[in-house]
Amino acid sequence: MLHGIMIKILILHGPNLNLLGQREPDVYGRQTLDDINASLRDMAAGRGAELIIQQSNHEGVLIDAIHDAAGQAAGDTVAGIVINPGAFTHTSVALRDAIAAVGLPCVEVHLSNIYAREPFRHNSLLAPVCLGQIGGFGARSYTLGLTALLDHLSSTETSQ
Ligand code: DQA
Repeated sequence: MLHGIMIKILILHGPNLNLLGQREPDVYGRQTLDDINASLRDMAAGRGAELIIQQSNHEGVLIDAIHDAAGQAAGDTVAGIVINPGAFTHTSVALRDAIAAVGLPCVEVHLSNIYAREPFRHNSLLAPVCLGQIGGFGARSYTLGLTALLDHLSSTETSQ
């Protein structure tokens, strides 16, 4: 809860994450996206937050979701974003610009440790416009990312 109202967080899953569970399980684990979403919803409920969860394989749909999050009516505000941009992490100037444009606090998460993988995964175009990045902990990267965002939001509330 922030200012006595239930806060909303947008959870955005990028391309190919709908295939979790069957997709390269040695790299990404055996949990499905539904499993991950269920543990995020549990965690959020315990912390007085409500989640809007979206997955898309399309860059423009992810960008629209970020714009929509920022455009929520007053009293129905999305307070921040947890995003796993998938491969768009390494390619999408447009996704980075969308995050910068809306100015919502954003945490980037990855199941795998992108810095321990192929060189083309070592750069994130989004990280510089996010609060921070969490990766390498499998499905737990998401719950750690949501915790980091909620802690950040409560600390900025108490410091105001
Ligand atoms: C990923 C890492 C990306 O490099 C990759 O393209 C993905 C998943 C991860 O969660 O580890 O699709 O974002």
